[in-house]
Amino acid sequence: MAAFPIIIAPDPELKKVSAPVERVDDGVRGLMDDLLESMRAANGLGLSAPQIGVLKRVIVVQLPAGEDEEPDPMFLANPEITWASGETYGGEEGCLSLPDHFAEVTRPAGVRVRYLGRDGETVELDLEGIAAKCVQHEMDHLDGILFVDHLSALKRNIILRKLAKWKRQNAA
Ligand code: NI
Repeated sequence: MAAFPIIIAPDPELKKVSAPVERVDDGVRGLMDDLLESMRAANGLGLSAPQIGVLKRVIVVQLPAGEDEEPDPMFLANPEITWASGETYGGEEGCLSLPDHFAEVTRPAGVRVRYLGRDGETVELDLEGIAAKCVQHEMDHLDGILFVDHLSALKRNIILRKLAKWKRQNAA
């Protein structure tokens, strides 16, 4: 396992569409572990493979600890939404690729997601609340979509310009 640097927007790599994995083998499990470690190192709730420069349809999500226990991390390969509720849910989103920027994004409140788990098993799971939101956000990355793409062009451009400036300053 290793923590990898996370690609910061705006970056053309983050706009690419990732390819499905053929199967969940040791290579994909290694990628899942790298994603988890990179996500934890950056204090995130989720991370997708393209954010560390790997264009594969693999994401990891770990929800915040509740009162009693820390939820297990979820590893999802080739996730697909097979059902979405008509009800929507707002709430602020952030992204490790857009550090220090947050905005309200409205998405379906509940989704059913089908994916391959860590052992290659097919899983179908109903999610709601923050879990549904996180998984939808991470799945967007696999299609080159960032949370700012759900905002108006005006709001999106303000955030992306600030990030571009921040990147130039940090590179200097
Ligand atoms: Ni993100």
